Amino acid sequence: MPRAPRYTARTADKHVLYEAAVQEPDAEFDFLDKIFRDRRGRLPVSIREDFGGTAYNSCVWVKRRPGNTAVAVDLHRPTLLTASKRHTGTLTAEQRSRVQLVPANVLSPALIRRPKVDAVLALNFSYWIFHQRATLVEYFAKARAALAPGGTLILDFFGGTDVHRECQDRRRCSGFTYIWDQARYDPMTGRYTCHIHFEFRDGTALRKAFTYHWRLWTLPELQDVLRDAGFTDIGLYAEGNRPDGSGDGRYRLRKGHPCDRTFLAYITAWR
Ligand SMILES: C[S@@+](CC[C@H](N)C(=O)[O-])C[C@H]1O[C@@H](n2cnc3c(N)ncnc32)[C@H](O)[C@@H]1O
Repeated sequence: MPRAPRYTARTADKHVLYEAAVQEPDAEFDFLDKIFRDRRGRLPVSIREDFGGTAYNSCVWVKRRPGNTAVAVDLHRPTLLTASKRHTGTLTAEQRSRVQLVPANVLSPALIRRPKVDAVLALNFSYWIFHQRATLVEYFAKARAALAPGGTLILDFFGGTDVHRECQDRRRCSGFTYIWDQARYDPMTGRYTCHIHFEFRDGTALRKAFTYHWRLWTLPELQDVLRDAGFTDIGLYAEGNRPDGSGDGRYRLRKGHPCDRTFLAYITAWR
């Protein structure tokens, strides 16, 4: 008898698919550990995961080392408090005591009154939700105020000549196809509307499982905004390429970059 497909549109959990397709907490934390060890001679302990979604990263972080603590912040309560149970449910009681789920806007002043952290992470380009420069300055300044001395804000970034194109990129994942849809880019406003679709082997699909209304920022702009927010020590780490042009997963500190079709980078801003 043919095996039933693992996923179908009627039953698939879009968060499970999203995490399988785009999140790699161990790789993110290998990067964080490396830069922190290189810079500070020790490993980071406390993180705040902004735009935390299902708190996947935070749960991986507290499992990574005894003593690690994480605060996951997201303004969508059902995602943060309910969808996260898939991850919090895998923690021991002791690990669970080291994660806090905070349903809040990352701009909330209440976040600054919490204990300071070694790193604030804003991943998967989520900070592009802020379209106005003044609001992005406010967010970065508040993230800076949440850092312990010697701590770092980590942002990820994608750029290259292809990011401005209205196009789709399809990628086979285990049991489904992930489609990144750059649906609309307005070069006058920088407004950038993207969707994630999932297609399944049985011919069903989840169209527009996620939609983002972002502003497409550039690296020079982001560095200016970070400086306006009070950061003076900013680093850009670009991913290296394999001979076939795909990313090699290794990020190196760079002052400039070739005009590739696409590239990924991390921005670090130290307090
Ligand atoms: C792209 S998902 C990020 C999910 C996951 N943390 C990751 O790294 O892939 C963006 C998340 O940001 C949240 N969000 C959007 N604006 C926010 C804000 N101002 N404050 C807090 N969370 C926000 C949304 O609810 C959504 O869960």
